[in-house]
Amino acid sequence: MTTTAIAPTNIAILKYWGKNPAWEEYLIPTKSSISFTVDKLFTRTTIEAKPRGGAKPGIQFTLNGGRITPSMKEYEYVEDFLERVGAFFPFVRNYDYRIASENNFPTSAGFASSASGFAAMVKAMAGEIPEFSPIMDDDAKLSAIARLGSGSATRSIPSHGGVVLWERGVEFDLRDPQKQSSRMTKAAIEKAIFSSCARTVFAPDHWPELSIMYVKVKTEEKKVKSRPGMKASVDTNPLYQAWVDYEEAIVREQMLGAIRNRDFAFLSELIMKASNNLHQICFGTYPPLVYLNSTSVDIIRAVHALNEGGVKAAYTFDAGPNAVVFALGKDSPEVEGTLEGIVGKGNVTATRVGNGSRLSSDHLF
Ligand code: PMV
Repeated sequence: MTTTAIAPTNIAILKYWGKNPAWEEYLIPTKSSISFTVDKLFTRTTIEAKPRGGAKPGIQFTLNGGRITPSMKEYEYVEDFLERVGAFFPFVRNYDYRIASENNFPTSAGFASSASGFAAMVKAMAGEIPEFSPIMDDDAKLSAIARLGSGSATRSIPSHGGVVLWERGVEFDLRDPQKQSSRMTKAAIEKAIFSSCARTVFAPDHWPELSIMYVKVKTEEKKVKSRPGMKASVDTNPLYQAWVDYEEAIVREQMLGAIRNRDFAFLSELIMKASNNLHQICFGTYPPLVYLNSTSVDIIRAVHALNEGGVKAAYTFDAGPNAVVFALGKDSPEVEGTLEGIVGKGNVTATRVGNGSRLSSDHLF
């Protein structure tokens, strides 16, 4: 059999940046995060799982039509992921895998592909492997499994998409390193692991006028990847715990309230502050992590200039210089024009809030 799944990318407005050190191996985050599911940027993945032939699972993997060989980093990511999932669901080790994955956007365009990539893989695996059938439609469980591939993939699973909340599940306190998972029973560990999962809080039709623009910024710089970067922030930034506590206790509810009320002005302020505070946490990491470049700063300035007479746009930045800018339909042509003036035509991709992961009958092989 073959199974194909589609999963969208998502853009976080309340960011995930760090794993709880007591739960590092299970990739449980220090804080909750909130994202918008994006309609137009997605990954399609086809999987065939056959009873295993050799000593360990064999993996045949193509990405955007190109063969991924065992020496390539993408191969390692998939192999690591299968190993982690195998720790909870040992039956995944009983298969050999043929996997083909395609993004409908250029991987090199700088849009995060690990979120949609791992989410599509998990959804397709769940449909393909018979032992997964009891949890096939359990978005909470599947999102926790996707987390084992990439944190942001957790939020690309919920099938209703829209606004997604990823609950951290386990409290984080750097001052209390005693909360070690090694002291807990297996059942308690499993409960904790599956409590860190994502769900839709507002469906896509809650706010259809919202436009989400992906802004590609030119860069030649090499960057520190998110995984080592966030670990360095947890380990070295003295304000890390304070940031987590503040966002968890205050910003999370403020953001959900602003979305509930469709209060674009307040939500924009919260989105921009949360992005700036993520990059403040990065800059306060030692050695500092600098993900924004001068074009990113030009975008920040241009958005604040646009907002002088009333809020029209909000920016957010992940671990790189590319921006994602939010605007309401009536203002989006003006906002898009301003962004194109900075990064050039063809570098702004307008999307909207969309659905989450789903199965598809359009197979890649
Ligand atoms: O999913 P990862 O491990 O690549 O981490 C993503 C981290 C950010 O994109 C910076 C924030 C987020 O919540 O998506």
